[in-house]
Amino acid sequence: MKIAILKEMISGEVRVAATPETIKKSVALGHSVVVEKSAGLAAGYIDADYEAAGASIATTAKKTVAGADVLLKVRGPSDKETAALPEGLTIIALMDPFALDPAALNSRKINALSMEFTPRITRAQSMDALSSQSNLAGYRAVIEGATLYGRALPMMMTAAGTVAPAKVFVMGAGVAGLQAIATARRLGGVVTATDVRPAAKEQVASLGAKFIAVEDEEFKAAETAGGYAKQMSPEYQQKQAELVANHIAKQDIVITTALIPGRPAPVLVTPEMVEAMRVGSVVVDMAVAQGGNCPLSEADKTVEHNGVKVVGFTNLPAHLPADASALYAKNLLAFLPLITSEDGGLNLDTDDEIVVAMTLTRDGKTVNERLSS
Ligand code: NAI
Repeated sequence: MKIAILKEMISGEVRVAATPETIKKSVALGHSVVVEKSAGLAAGYIDADYEAAGASIATTAKKTVAGADVLLKVRGPSDKETAALPEGLTIIALMDPFALDPAALNSRKINALSMEFTPRITRAQSMDALSSQSNLAGYRAVIEGATLYGRALPMMMTAAGTVAPAKVFVMGAGVAGLQAIATARRLGGVVTATDVRPAAKEQVASLGAKFIAVEDEEFKAAETAGGYAKQMSPEYQQKQAELVANHIAKQDIVITTALIPGRPAPVLVTPEMVEAMRVGSVVVDMAVAQGGNCPLSEADKTVEHNGVKVVGFTNLPAHLPADASALYAKNLLAFLPLITSEDGGLNLDTDDEIVVAMTLTRDGKTVNERLSS
């Protein structure tokens, strides 16, 4: 099949959906790949390397997608981009499915597959872009937090005196949170973490951090079959807030990662909690794009509140564009065989549960059950 790779159009999106490595492998599988000029430049991948890997370079977006079977992208296309795509094209991207209005896609009969809807089953692990990107984001959140913090993370004993280790609190111990815990530990912080899923308790402990949570009956049942958090009751949230309020007042860096798929992020750090923190402390809100875990956070800004820096990043993986692109491109490469027919062409007519779960629109219709509920 013919695969197209476009340059990303969203401001600040510096990742790219293919690397020379994944293109080499796609070409070896018999596919042809066209890359838009400079598509990988911002992520550190140059056209000459794409060409050496077997791709051809097209000078415009229109030429890139002409005659393509599949378009691989990082972010789903805007309505304006969609209007310029050939009818019947198949797109695989981070479609932001819960915020998506599929009208423009359906009017052009674009078949859209959402990488966010990769099911959490063992066979799909290598395709799981939410995990690959969250992992890097969790690492980077700690690096950004440490940079804004006016003190050191590790304990240092020097002739001039002792520097106390920073206390780091990670809220939400999913993929991003666990990597944040591991990174903060490696940097020498004293790390605690919380989550509403009971499975997280052991994982937090195995990384050498202390687990803090209200462990009542509701907590014991708070995980979906897919491994995601459920929305907690107002009563639980109240108990959780009381526990967190006491703890947070003693923390230096707080990293919040808590998300519930398809819903606004839960508020975990209130303005009062921020006011109780020491001047110079830092809150990194990784959920800001979904409404935020802290009401004070603003998208891609650092807000100072009573001397505490509250920072909200909407796209942390883009702070590591080379690695984030490399892993994302591999997620896509791992998925392609599921929609490749025996003769190497595109085949969306499959009962494969992974393909079904990821397909949002097909032949002009919205077909995903998670979008209609
Ligand atoms: P996520 O990005 O949707 O949420 C981040 C974390 O926030 C989750 O751990 C969630 O439980 C937590 N959270 C939600 N509400 C909260 C609240 N009120 N207070 C504190 N924490 C709250 O989740 P993510 O990171 O995408 O994955 C969650 C889990 O899914 C993973 O830890 C893992 O166990 C599982 N998973 C399974 C995979 C597989 O089997 N293939 C692949 C990736 C993840």
